[in-house]
Amino acid sequence: MLVLSGKEVAAHVQSEVKQTCSDFVHLTGHKPCLAVVLVGDDPASATYVASKGKACEAMGFDHRDYRLTAETTESELLSLVQKLNDDPLVDGILVQLPLPSHLDEKSIIHAIRPDKDVDGLHPVNVGRLMLGDPSFVACTPAGVMRILDYYKIETKGKEVVVVGRSNIVGKPMAALMIQKGRDATVTICHSRTEDLVLHTKKADILIAAIGKPHAITKEMVKNGAVVIDVGINRVVDTSKKRGYRLVGDVDYEGVSTICSAITPVPGGVGVMTIAMLMENTLLAAKMHV
Ligand code: GUN
Repeated sequence: MLVLSGKEVAAHVQSEVKQTCSDFVHLTGHKPCLAVVLVGDDPASATYVASKGKACEAMGFDHRDYRLTAETTESELLSLVQKLNDDPLVDGILVQLPLPSHLDEKSIIHAIRPDKDVDGLHPVNVGRLMLGDPSFVACTPAGVMRILDYYKIETKGKEVVVVGRSNIVGKPMAALMIQKGRDATVTICHSRTEDLVLHTKKADILIAAIGKPHAITKEMVKNGAVVIDVGINRVVDTSKKRGYRLVGDVDYEGVSTICSAITPVPGGVGVMTIAMLMENTLLAAKMHV
């Protein structure tokens, strides 16, 4: 059984991004810059945002962090996005999701200039992805593809089952897998799927993006399948100083006894998300110069 180390793949991606960034800065005098906006004080989101800032520093990027209170109005947030859209020094804009419930995520995402949408969530970028045209691809699904490429896991003709239909992961994941050159046969399952096991059991590559700890058990997985765990769930653990530990959507202990390869949590898909964000930001900077 092979452990697919996102940590290892991310280190490769980041060392490449760092080198390319250094060459780019020498050549152009422009430092790639990512603006990260966090609204409210969700502790998990605050952790992710902090990691994104640290990654920018490690890559040699500039970054700007905007922390807004949970009471921020939609028009305040929209005017910040507008200001960042108009700022020639800013290459990428990321508004951390989820937003507090009084804010309409859709209007905020739509307001980001597509050429600064390093999250790949703007309809223009999602549309380009569906058409198979070059675009900013949502970082988590892009990271999953990079892990599969790194470990030379073939997708052509394979049965890929994606559990979860979110705009951030499930839908773009399926769109990538059906592209020419990837050539997978894709099933998307979700909370209303009638016989989930029927589908997951036939997966050569099973991608869990549900957001529920240990939702995928051994009984749901085919022998020898490749299992990609996108979940990052906090579960209470009083033995830990911080009071919780991170677990995936997959019951790693059980599933790892029958699958051929699996991503761990942490150290799997999560770290790749940030690596792909760095790559997208560098791409945006190149486009802007
Ligand atoms: N929240 C969880 N994952 C993501 C992501 O990839 N982008 C944004 N903007 N918010 C997130």
